[in-house]
Amino acid sequence: MVDVINICNLSFSYGKRDVLKGINLSIDRGEFVGIAGPVGSGKSTLLLVMNGVIPNMIRGNFKGAVTTCGMDVKTSKVSEISRKVGIVLQDPNSQIFSLRVRDEVAFALENRKLPKDQIEKKVDKYLKLFGLHSMKDENPNNLSEGQKQKLAIASTLAMEPEVILFDEPSSSLDSSSAIKLYKILRALNRKGITVIVVEHDTELLVENVKRVLVLKDSTIKLDGPPEKILSSPKIEKYGLKVPCMFKSTARSSR
Ligand SMILES: Nc1ncnc2c1ncn2[C@@H]1O[C@H](COP(=O)(O)OP(=O)(O)OP(=O)(O)O)[C@@H](O)[C@H]1O
Ligand SMILES: [Mg+2]
Repeated sequence: MVDVINICNLSFSYGKRDVLKGINLSIDRGEFVGIAGPVGSGKSTLLLVMNGVIPNMIRGNFKGAVTTCGMDVKTSKVSEISRKVGIVLQDPNSQIFSLRVRDEVAFALENRKLPKDQIEKKVDKYLKLFGLHSMKDENPNNLSEGQKQKLAIASTLAMEPEVILFDEPSSSLDSSSAIKLYKILRALNRKGITVIVVEHDTELLVENVKRVLVLKDSTIKLDGPPEKILSSPKIEKYGLKVPCMFKSTARSSR
């Protein structure tokens, strides 16, 4: 196995307080990892380190070494890293800037100078995948929050990156859309794409990911397969719910 993310002794603070402290983490190509933890525990910050936005675009006190797809985030440009690593931000409004739905998906593909017919094909494919095709000429401002979230996801997937980082992708989706989204993510992962997703819904985690990390107090407190990490009532102290499938065993082992 080859690691696509390697984090060695990382500490980061935006100001005085360490948001991440002494983080060591290796993620192999083809893994499907879920990151959970309480509000403000540094989940989004950790994703931004993985694609080099931190320390290149958001400054702070950064210590340690981080490589993503073999690129040192300190010395590589975000534009280079983003060719291999896609990210869907927690707030889709901060990611969407085009005036037409189709242009949002086409934008990065045009930047990469793909032939027009290929761009059209990809735009159609990814808009259809998320049920947005009939809205392709709409202004994204007219979409609901859930539709905007789907558009941000479609635009990132259309670039067909090797690693995809998702920050709470199901937060504005209804449960059937969230289940459909994870089905798409599982299919991508079966093709060998590394998927890393911040997700607080432990039912979705246990059904979909192969490894769970729990962040709290600036460090990774738990790391392992979802059946092991999420079945323990201990996760309640990290603000997480034991999934239904483990409830009876969790109670009997209290
Ligand atoms: N750009 C920033 N400048 C200053 N402080 C920040 C910035 N972004 C995040 N923080 C602070 O860093 C800490 C971790 O934030 P982060 O967004 O990484 O947490 P999170 O686990 O993703 O939280 P949530 O569950 O609310 O999304 C918080 O205390 C937050 O206020
Ligand atoms: Mg966050």
